[in-house]
Amino acid sequence: MLKTRLTELVGIKYPIIQAGMGPFPVTSLCIAAANAGCLGLCSTFGTTSRKSNPVVFEDFCKQAHAELDDDDVTIFKKMFTRIYNETNEGTVFGANVMVSAEVKENAMNVMKAIKEVRQDPAVAERFKVLVTTAGDPVPWAGFVKEQGMIWMHVFPGVRTAARCKKAGVQVLIASGHEGGFHTAWQPVHSMTLLPDIVEKFSDENTLVCGTGGYCDAKSLAAALAMGADGVQMGTRFLATEESDFCDLWKKLVLDCGDGGTLIARGFVGPARWLRTPAAQQHAYNTAKDAPGSYVGVPDDFSKIPMDLLVAERHGVAATYNGDAERAMAGAGECAQRITDLPPCADMVQKIAAETEEIICGLKSKYVV
Ligand SMILES: Cc1cc2nc3c(=O)[nH]c(=O)nc-3n(C[C@H](O)[C@H](O)[C@H](O)COP(=O)(O)O)c2cc1C
Repeated sequence: MLKTRLTELVGIKYPIIQAGMGPFPVTSLCIAAANAGCLGLCSTFGTTSRKSNPVVFEDFCKQAHAELDDDDVTIFKKMFTRIYNETNEGTVFGANVMVSAEVKENAMNVMKAIKEVRQDPAVAERFKVLVTTAGDPVPWAGFVKEQGMIWMHVFPGVRTAARCKKAGVQVLIASGHEGGFHTAWQPVHSMTLLPDIVEKFSDENTLVCGTGGYCDAKSLAAALAMGADGVQMGTRFLATEESDFCDLWKKLVLDCGDGGTLIARGFVGPARWLRTPAAQQHAYNTAKDAPGSYVGVPDDFSKIPMDLLVAERHGVAATYNGDAERAMAGAGECAQRITDLPPCADMVQKIAAETEEIICGLKSKYVV
């Protein structure tokens, strides 16, 4: 059995976190991942943005068992309640909340909903993890401490890891540049970032997990060998039977060939897309109009043509509409290693069993 500090702290069977993937709903996926023994996370960022992508908003409400005219806090509460109702006793779930300045209002609504549903002690016992991301964790320390939740924060570099330490974040999730969809301006990959963060920040009070590129036993075993306490997987969970992502999105992951992803401007910064014709064109436009995405310098929003940013919405809407020619779909580099759409429980059990085999086999294979 795989036992790490993450499984002990959170009370889960496997050292695997299923990533939140906003603005897209992963509500059914979160339920399946939690029931499979992982930490299941739901998406919140951008999910209630009615105008920017109505088709995504409708899908989010449907998965949350909410009405289209519910206010945001009510939608989030209904989603958390559905997850609680459909996950088994003894399982654990949490919310992924983007906290950068531009989306502060959304984050405040999510926190309000979390506070309200967790007033029921039975819910609080299983809805016990908050994963903040894409911003400074320090201003949120008061809320998390008041809630008594296990706090994790996702970040792409050493500077934010230091802010996590200052804030009292318990689990640092180091996000490598291989990862799906929105990535950091400074491209540091998991093989460099994870051991760096482990060496600088892992101690008796602080756990470290990796995310970005982890999708199977080999990559999980490698993360553990680098000193991590677990991993977060996004693209691997996106391509599962229970995942809420639409059929074309999953097909594009399965069709992803060698080098089948690219970076191009997303609304909130550089983003990793599957290499569809529309994404490729978008990458050329990015190189022309927002080159900071490639040289690690944040663009000045006011100077980028609005068309470039709106392309993301159109591409995503095309994916939801099944239009492969115009589709744009976010996913990580590891998409090129993913060839099936298994049920979550089968996938997780296979990864765990093979990871144990790898770890146990290393000594006889390499130590003479
Ligand atoms: C389609 C998609 C949407 C995502 N949206 C979010 C998000 O809203 N918030 C966040 O913190 N990370 C988001 N991510 C990143 C994941 O949480 C995770 O860190 C990443 O997928 C890990 O890399 P992997 O895809 O190689 O597993 C998203 C990833 C994908 C593929």
